[in-house]
Amino acid sequence: MEMAQEAILVTGGASGIGLAVARGLLDAGRKVLVADVSQERLDEIREMAPAGRLGCVRLDVSDEAEVMDAMARLERDFGPISGLVNSAGIGRDVPFLDTDAAMLRRILEVNLVGSFVVAREAARRMRERRRGSIVNIASVSGIRGNAGRAAYGASKGGVVTLTRVMAVELAAYGIRVNAVAPGPIETPLVGQMHTEAARAAWRQVVPQHRYATPEELNGTIGWLLDEAQSSYVTGQVICVDGGFTAAGMLPAVH
Ligand code: NAI
Repeated sequence: MEMAQEAILVTGGASGIGLAVARGLLDAGRKVLVADVSQERLDEIREMAPAGRLGCVRLDVSDEAEVMDAMARLERDFGPISGLVNSAGIGRDVPFLDTDAAMLRRILEVNLVGSFVVAREAARRMRERRRGSIVNIASVSGIRGNAGRAAYGASKGGVVTLTRVMAVELAAYGIRVNAVAPGPIETPLVGQMHTEAARAAWRQVVPQHRYATPEELNGTIGWLLDEAQSSYVTGQVICVDGGFTAAGMLPAVH
């Protein structure tokens, strides 16, 4: 089975959504490469699977030279990468009027430029093999105007547009590119980003009135990665958000 030999690269795969995806793919028998900026978190997950099935690499996605170097090294050591999940990301909840340019730039560097560079390097290799699936993790904050999300939301709005442009240009090479836009997901990022007041506000406006677990994204991401199941799906932004982006007025909560 040639497909089973091809690897899926998950950036930010040492925590939260990326880690849940990596675990799910390993459980499904796939070879997984986790790239994360946190060496400490990588060391914690290294034992998750045998070394031949799981590769761990420390990588700052916002460092273009480092990404180019790591991608070459990963393919040399683990073979072709046929799938990419761009989950590395950072977030801050800061009012627009208090957002400084340095914060905006840093968030854009990691969330948008980082996704761009990793995807470009992966796609350059996928092009040779005329096959590949890229899943960018965007956010409902890249689609709706959520308070406190000037920098973060702008970075994710950029990821949404980047996804569409990539899908259009890369279709000719047999590469599909889609985005998943999660609503509130219980992860370490949210642990530091959401205050109690923010949590209450989210629970109110999400029709399911709850946060999701990171594992609740695995089905959608796994489906988008799987050529056999989603071969005609490209350029889409799929919200996994408990109904948040569909909602208008909600029934009163008692
Ligand atoms: P998390 O903080 O649990 O995991 C993110 C991982 O990315 C961490 O392991 C971190 O070390 C890594 N990372 C951060 N900067 C990096 C860099 N420069 N280079 C490489 N790795 C880096 O966060 P979570 O919640 O799992 O977020 C994953 C993605 O999902 C992010 O892009 C986030 O914006 C997005 N998202 C999360 C939502 C949520 O409610 N948790 C909602 C919508 C989107």
